Amino acid sequence: MAVTPDGMLTALDVMQDAAVIPVIVLDDVAQAVPLARALVGGGIRMLEVTMRTPAALACIEAIAAEVPAAVPGAGTVRSAADAQAAAAAGARFAVSPGYTPAIGQACRELGLPLLPGVATGSEILQAQEGGWTELKFFPALQAGGAAMLKALSGPFHDVRFCPTGGVTAANARDFLSLPNVVCVGGSWLTPADAVKAGDWDRIAQLAREAAALRG
Ligand code: 3PG
Repeated sequence: MAVTPDGMLTALDVMQDAAVIPVIVLDDVAQAVPLARALVGGGIRMLEVTMRTPAALACIEAIAAEVPAAVPGAGTVRSAADAQAAAAAGARFAVSPGYTPAIGQACRELGLPLLPGVATGSEILQAQEGGWTELKFFPALQAGGAAMLKALSGPFHDVRFCPTGGVTAANARDFLSLPNVVCVGGSWLTPADAVKAGDWDRIAQLAREAAALRG
């Protein structure tokens, strides 16, 4: 994985590591380490743990401490305070469902690569004004899917996207084949029933299939 001279990841490093960034929802910190090991075993290292549950920060901390091959990140970052808490827990990148200058500034101060969420031209312009050119296209399917990304590639030829929201194993290639898409995000690698049942083999297999989408 390419890193900058000070050892920090860039947003592009995060996007280029594998075809898919798994969007992870965890209710129980005990699930974090075996889940991360399963994903890493399947070839997926960039792990977006969403800040949607009370356990999220402890899960990021556990992965950072116990799964050195994994790169934990925080998803659903909705404020500067979320970004600060995520970085303190050991998150090495952040993903937000939308963009605000305050989130952008906090991530820049923290040295935390950020994939800000956008769905429209105006939102892309605002993120670009903040200096962000690697963006999450969210919610990808509902906001126009691959056709919308094709349309955006004209005026925004200098922006690269990670479409997330409604992306599945079945439609991921539609997105990944676009020149302005580097990777996709999605929750299909970590089905809630498999996480609950501790079916790590199934998750490792889903990760292997996801990793194989590129190449
Ligand atoms: C999310 O933030 O929930 C992601 O966009 C995941 O969406 P998905 O469950 O449709 O993959």
